[in-house]
Amino acid sequence: MPEPHAAETPAVACIGVFDSGLGGLSVLQALRRQLPQAPLRYLADSANAPYGDRSEAFIVERSQRIAQHLVAHGATLLVVACNTATAAAVARLRERWPALPIVGVEPGLKPAVAASRNGRIGVLATTGTLRSEKFRQLLARQGDAVHIVAQPCPGLADLIERGALDTPELRALVERCCAPLRDAGVDTVVLGCTHYPFVRHLIAAAMGAQVQLIDTGDAVARRAAQLWQASGAAPAAADVVMLETTGDVAAQQRVAAGWLAFRCEVSAADV
Ligand code: DGL
Repeated sequence: MPEPHAAETPAVACIGVFDSGLGGLSVLQALRRQLPQAPLRYLADSANAPYGDRSEAFIVERSQRIAQHLVAHGATLLVVACNTATAAAVARLRERWPALPIVGVEPGLKPAVAASRNGRIGVLATTGTLRSEKFRQLLARQGDAVHIVAQPCPGLADLIERGALDTPELRALVERCCAPLRDAGVDTVVLGCTHYPFVRHLIAAAMGAQVQLIDTGDAVARRAAQLWQASGAAPAAADVVMLETTGDVAAQQRVAAGWLAFRCEVSAADV
């Protein structure tokens, strides 16, 4: 059933952003660079992260509840800062809130095809993203001229989620995920999960300096910024970003302070 969103919107409109956990902060950072003044409200579903190995029905249900919460708190634009949730749920969200602009993220295969010199491309993503119908269609659109190696990385988002970005365990897992791509001779690797930009340094080290890494965070933020500006939202000066979590507030506070260059107010969300 389509639902209106404007009637329940409080006075201060904001951009609602969510992810299974903290990975979407890579998109939030890009959004903050594009729109330094816009009110941003981010929800991390850390109590239920990672989404990568969850069923599609579970991710759809969580995405709908979170979208509902963000809309109720003033979101007039929604950014699904999670490849796995976009693949599983973005169509359902658009059905339910047809008047709400919604920006999703998907692995950047198109820019990778444009950037690759040898036509051999690797994709690092969650199992959920890679097995989705949406990804199958995205792959089919790239044609036969390129060779694309899709590498699931179970456990990687989960380790990143813990906050420490350079542990021996993390290095070993990144190495295991990258080895098949190196063996396949790819010259371009798509970071197909919003958690992975936080370990870009480890992926770059494992792949070698000659391999290009593609992250769509900036492109997603540019698209969201266009929609926000076109919506005619009243100018606001938000110097604090609202960060809500279904997980541990203190842990989230620590990670946000370490990862982000702007101030966040962290609180618990009962979603
Ligand atoms: N950050 C997410 C993505 O872009 C999800 C990772 C996970 O929860 O498994 O796919």
